[in-house]
Amino acid sequence: MRPCTIRPVADHPYFFTWGAQKDARPISLVGGEGAHFELATGERWLDLGSLIYQANLGHGNRRVIDAVKAQADRLCLAIPAADYPEKRELAERLLAKAPDGFDRVFFTLGGSDANENAIKIARMATGKFKLLARYRSYHGATMGAVSLTGDARRMAVEPGLPGVVHVSDFDCGACPGGVRAPDCAHAPLTHIPATLSREGDGVAAVFVESIVGANGVLIPPPGYMAEVRDACDRHGALLVMDEVLVGFGRTGRFFALDHEGIVPDLITCGKAITGGYGTLGAVLVHERVSAHFDDRALVTGLTHYAHPLGVAAALETLRVIDDEGLVDRAAALEGTLRAGLERIVQAAGTWGGQTRCRGLLGGVELDLGAGRYEALKSALVARCVHAHLPLQRNILVIAPPLVIGEEELRDGLGTVADAVQEAFGVRP
Ligand SMILES: Cc1ncc(COP(=O)(O)O)c(C=O)c1O
Repeated sequence: MRPCTIRPVADHPYFFTWGAQKDARPISLVGGEGAHFELATGERWLDLGSLIYQANLGHGNRRVIDAVKAQADRLCLAIPAADYPEKRELAERLLAKAPDGFDRVFFTLGGSDANENAIKIARMATGKFKLLARYRSYHGATMGAVSLTGDARRMAVEPGLPGVVHVSDFDCGACPGGVRAPDCAHAPLTHIPATLSREGDGVAAVFVESIVGANGVLIPPPGYMAEVRDACDRHGALLVMDEVLVGFGRTGRFFALDHEGIVPDLITCGKAITGGYGTLGAVLVHERVSAHFDDRALVTGLTHYAHPLGVAAALETLRVIDDEGLVDRAAALEGTLRAGLERIVQAAGTWGGQTRCRGLLGGVELDLGAGRYEALKSALVARCVHAHLPLQRNILVIAPPLVIGEEELRDGLGTVADAVQEAFGVRP
């Protein structure tokens, strides 16, 4: 087996994120093609994580790269008030993908500040300040977004934004009675409505990931989102659906909220909106909210609002998604992913748990305690396979580029199963 080429380096002139610098593991990324990326060492890695869930179009997409280059030649500098054709077309295309009634886009630089600005828009539009979000959630790293975040990442900077109330989710896997949706039609559905009524109609917005991503691929039980929508209406709160990780075809529908048949008030976007080829995010706004700002000030903005290079990357990404039928492709490959997840869970033996899957977003519960996390990480590195292994959640998340070949996916999942078998067979 090849030695691991990812080594700790503490001596860099820039910060690595989310950890102590001495533990950082720089990766010498130099490029890639399709579902593979390449390192300076010559290694070719199979990307079963779409980097950090943004590379939905895979690596080395010529169309998007050329579109960004052409945009740089055409118009590279802009200001928020600049009206140029690509910005208009992108906004129109995004709104066309949203449910009926969405009529305005607020552009941001990424997913965190999409949620940040959704908070501001919701507070201004409702005149209220409280915000509800769930414990099993991640909404971003900026101060407002991390305050909404329910997982442990918020704790390093608490106290967070005043007015954020966290609420339990539908973590059926953790139900003390062992009852799972659809058999259980009660407890998980009541948390948000009950909390909304206890907060005395003071809630500006409820933030939910349409499908919880990094915190465990949690697919809402039937009726859950509809009940959340009704409760928001009853209590005058806006419903914000965070599509940063699950949007843009990932789950076999353009937005993951399309599985639910409900209409939120705001939709936040980031990551794969540009396929990772540019820096952009967006808040899509329903007309019942945008109308508020027709004659009242929208008191928010960003210097790089709708930066032409990000806009060009996003516009071409949307065209590629449509032209190549990538949303249908994600739906069609769900069966292959599901079968691969089952193989992985079998390889884990008694340390395996539930598998969950929608489109090309899949999760396997694994007991990663007692050294199994490190063993599995090393086994994946040794096989040059990238997947997501968030330790705090005992979950392996698989989210390959939507362009991955069926055989490539099947073989890759087999390799992951082998890695699990090897890692869990070796007791620490
Ligand atoms: C659901 C969700 N929302 C928001 C964000 C923040 O996006 P970004 O890191 O691009 O700012 C993330 C990032 O992982 C996410 O998964």
